[in-house]
Amino acid sequence: MIEFKNVSKAYSENNYVLKDINIKINDGEFVFIVGHSGAGKTTLTKLLLREERVSDGRLIIDNFRLDKMRESKVPYLRRTMGFVFQDFRLFPNKTVYENVAFAMQVIGASNKKIKKEVPAFIEAVGLKDRMHAFPAQLSGGEKQRVALARALANNPKIIIADEPTGNIDPEMSLDIMKLLIALNEQLGKTIIVVTHEKELVDKFHKRVITLKNGSVESDRTGGMYDE
Ligand SMILES: Nc1ncnc2c1ncn2[C@@H]1O[C@H](COP(=O)(O)OP(=O)(O)O)[C@@H](O)[C@H]1O
Ligand SMILES: [Mg+2]
Repeated sequence: MIEFKNVSKAYSENNYVLKDINIKINDGEFVFIVGHSGAGKTTLTKLLLREERVSDGRLIIDNFRLDKMRESKVPYLRRTMGFVFQDFRLFPNKTVYENVAFAMQVIGASNKKIKKEVPAFIEAVGLKDRMHAFPAQLSGGEKQRVALARALANNPKIIIADEPTGNIDPEMSLDIMKLLIALNEQLGKTIIVVTHEKELVDKFHKRVITLKNGSVESDRTGGMYDE
């Protein structure tokens, strides 16, 4: 479970970009986080990653107290999560297979495990026939699928995607969103998707948390994206 309790964040003194955030996300939930540019969406995801620390309040992810946690524990927290970014962040000189394998190597998975699991992750995102292609040979939608396969590589409980469809054409965007929903429904992953794409959000009738100027403006299950 993820819990924000009266969380605030200021990058500089008294300049709050998140104010008194209270959000509880249960295991296996699918949540959209929406809001205008500058609302604080990316900052919220950075707090979850512990790329940034909360200024006030409590932030809890399962047994981790992120507001109190020492830097040395951060790698253990991050192993419970997979991240997907708007700009894919793939290694250009590694193939699809190698990009996914690398994510497992860095956490010390055995070669045997890597050989067995990487193809399965790539297959799960529908890229089996592109396994040995390089990122430059892939479409935006395909690159994002690789990023998703990589996010799955450490078997995380939680997947956090910040504007995952921001650099993808609309048709492919729908596919990526469906894939995220499948990971939620079939594998039980907790999924948090930051987006400003109203049409996509309104298609799926999931929980929608709207941020406005650093505060939660609304939090609705089966919600629509209100502007
Ligand atoms: N590293 C930073 N230092 C100072 N201000 C920042 C930093 N990152 C973001 N901000 C500011 O925080 C606010 C929220 O930004 P962000 O979380 O990126 O919003 P969103 O993702 O919703 O567009 C913005 O006013 C932005 O300029
Ligand atoms: Mg952002």
